[in-house]
Amino acid sequence: LLTLSDGTRVTTVRQWERRRRPELLALLADQEYGRTPHERIKVKHETVAVNPAALGGRATSQQVRFTFSGCGRTVEALLLVYVPNDRQGRVPVIVGYNYNGNQTTTLEEDVLPSPSLRWMDYSETAQARGYQQSRWDYEEAIGRGYAVATMCYNDIYPDKPSLRDESVAALFSDYDAEGVAPDEWQALGVWAWGSSRIADYLVRQSWVDRHGLALLGHSRQGKAALWAGAQDKRFAVVISNDSGCGGAALSKRAFGETVARITHSFPHWFCTNFNAYADREELLPFDQHALISLMAPRHVYVASAEDDAWADPHGEFLATGYADAVYALYGMEGLGTKQMPPVHQPIMHDSGYHIRTGKHDVTAYDWQCYLDFCDRHLKR
Ligand code: GCU
Repeated sequence: LLTLSDGTRVTTVRQWERRRRPELLALLADQEYGRTPHERIKVKHETVAVNPAALGGRATSQQVRFTFSGCGRTVEALLLVYVPNDRQGRVPVIVGYNYNGNQTTTLEEDVLPSPSLRWMDYSETAQARGYQQSRWDYEEAIGRGYAVATMCYNDIYPDKPSLRDESVAALFSDYDAEGVAPDEWQALGVWAWGSSRIADYLVRQSWVDRHGLALLGHSRQGKAALWAGAQDKRFAVVISNDSGCGGAALSKRAFGETVARITHSFPHWFCTNFNAYADREELLPFDQHALISLMAPRHVYVASAEDDAWADPHGEFLATGYADAVYALYGMEGLGTKQMPPVHQPIMHDSGYHIRTGKHDVTAYDWQCYLDFCDRHLKR
C-alpha cells in the first residue's frame, strides 16, 4: 500500500495524498471499475410528494424525481428521503440504494414505486410494498437524529447486461451502444456516480449537515459504495455491508466468490480489463485493502455475516485491517488487530468492523452498529 509504483516508500501524508492515493485511484479505475467520465450531464430535481406526518408523525418524507438528460435521451430516478421532525438545525444523512424499489423499503402507502420497476421482472412478492423493510430501519435512524435517503439502484443502471442502453451511462456523449472500451465504466462505476449525484442534491438542502453524509451499501451496492466513497470525499463515513468480491474482500485469497466467477456471472459490473484477472488474481497490481484505504482520513466501516461465506468474511476483515497503515500515516486508529473479532463484538475506531450471526442481509443489528459508528464520527 505504501510503496509507489517506482519503488519509493511512502512515509508522509503529503506523499500519500499527492502521489500514492492518485496512483491507486487510477489503477482501480483502469483495471477494476472503469473510468468515471469528467463530463457533467444535466440533472433536474422535482419534489413530487411531501408528507410531514410520515412514520407516525416522527418524520417528513420527501420524494424527489431526478431527471438525467444527455444525447437526446432522459433517465428518471426517484429519491425517497425521511427527515426527522424532531431536530435542531441540520442533520446527518444515511444515503443508500435499495434493490427492489423505494416502495419495498416501507409499508407507508404514499411511497411511490421506483421508475425502473418497468425494466425488472420482479415477482409480485419481490416488488410488494414493504418487502425489504427489514433492511431499512428508518424508525431507528430517525429516532437517533438521522435522515435517510434512498433510491433504487436500477433507476441508475438497471442491473442486466441487456439494459445498458437504458442506464444513465447512455446519456454521456462518448457512449457507444455497440461495445465497451476495456477501461470503460460499467454498472458499478455508474452506480457509484449516481451516489454522488444524490450527494449533490442533499448538500444543497437547508436541513442537511453537509459534513454528515454517510454512504451505506449492501452487497453489490457495498462494492459500489466503497468505489463511490473512494472518489467522492463528501462522504464522511462509508459503510460496506457484506460486499464481498470486488468490495471489501481481498481478491487474492480467492475464497468464496472469485474474480472468475463474478466477471462471468456479472459481465456488466466491472470494466472489461478486470476479466484478465480471472483465475490470475496474483497478477492484480493492488488488492481491495487499497480501495478501503482511500477512505482515510474519513471513516470506513466494513461488516460481514457468519453464514455469508460467499462474501469471504475473513477476507473482508483482513482488507479492512490492512488499510490501518494509511490511517496510521494520519495518526489515526484503524482496527488495530489482525485477530478477527468474535460475532457481535464490533471494533469501532477511525475504521470499524463487525461480524454478526446469520446470513447475507442487512439487519437491525447492522443498523445499530452503523448508527453507533456514525454517532462517533458525525455528531458534533
Ligand atoms: C451475488 C454476487 C455477489 C453480490 C450479491 C448481491 O451473490 O455473486 O457478488 O454481492 O449477489 O449483490 O447480493
